[in-house]
Amino acid sequence: MLKNLTLSVIAALGLTAGAASAAGAYDTHIEDFDFSFEGPFGSYDQMQLQRGLQVYTEVCASCHGLQYVPLRTLGDAGGPALPEDQVRAYAEQNFEVYDEVLEDFRAARPTDNFPANNGAGAPDLSMMAKARAGFHGPYGLGINQFFKGMGGAEYIASLLTGYTGEEKEEAGIILYENKAFPGGWISMAPPLYGDDVEYADGHSTDLHHVSQDVAAFLMWTAEPKMMARKEAGFVGFLFLTVLSVLLYLTNKRIWAPIKKKAKQSA
Ligand code: HEC
Repeated sequence: MLKNLTLSVIAALGLTAGAASAAGAYDTHIEDFDFSFEGPFGSYDQMQLQRGLQVYTEVCASCHGLQYVPLRTLGDAGGPALPEDQVRAYAEQNFEVYDEVLEDFRAARPTDNFPANNGAGAPDLSMMAKARAGFHGPYGLGINQFFKGMGGAEYIASLLTGYTGEEKEEAGIILYENKAFPGGWISMAPPLYGDDVEYADGHSTDLHHVSQDVAAFLMWTAEPKMMARKEAGFVGFLFLTVLSVLLYLTNKRIWAPIKKKAKQSA
């Protein structure tokens, strides 16, 4: 049984390693950014999420949708936490949705989701930060996330800052060289150059900062309950620690008379 299990684990590792080296012909580079939500007690930075929302709205939303994210969650504690009236104003001012009942377009409301993608070939970004989390580590095992706290947010920030400036045309499509994108060439033109937005809080708008802000925001859309998950994990950890100690003591007590007897007869 154990032997079988070991064999299948080795086989599985071998397969992943094989797949990774086949895919990793181009050496991608993911930078290890520092995000506030890393580590067992990390949490989202509300101001950063608000800045990221602004970058998404002003730059990315022209191509990318966030169709799985309800607009009302912008008001959730632990997220961007916009006041209710601002959530309503944001929805109304920025998006239109098709209303099946009215059979016409109307301004979005907090009860709607963000619209779906409308740019040709641009993927929906709702879950992107999670979909791209397990890309690296030795042999593509994805363990960097565990050991270094590197995940999808790092990938997105690295992607946005990873353009080399080289372009080429292939079958009528312009491709842009990018150090973070698997394969090295992406069809998304560099969306950010720095100073693309103006922040109300006066935070730096250089390329690195803006990229991190929008990456953090996309991490939140992909995992809005990260804080709750970490908290539950910590409570579970505490509970198991206390339980282990109690079980150890119980075990000692239950076996004490028998050990004593064994000692006497020896
Ligand atoms: C002009 C349209 C356009 C804009 C604006 C744009 N993108 Fe893209 N994006 C694309 C297209 C097209 C792709 C698909 C690229 C490919 O697969 O080669 C893409 C792909 C992506 C991917 C997925 C990469 C992967 O690993 O598959 C991410 C992440 C992304 N964009 C983030 C952003 C962010 C963040 C912004 C705003 C700062 C943004 N994009 C702005 C068109 C756009």
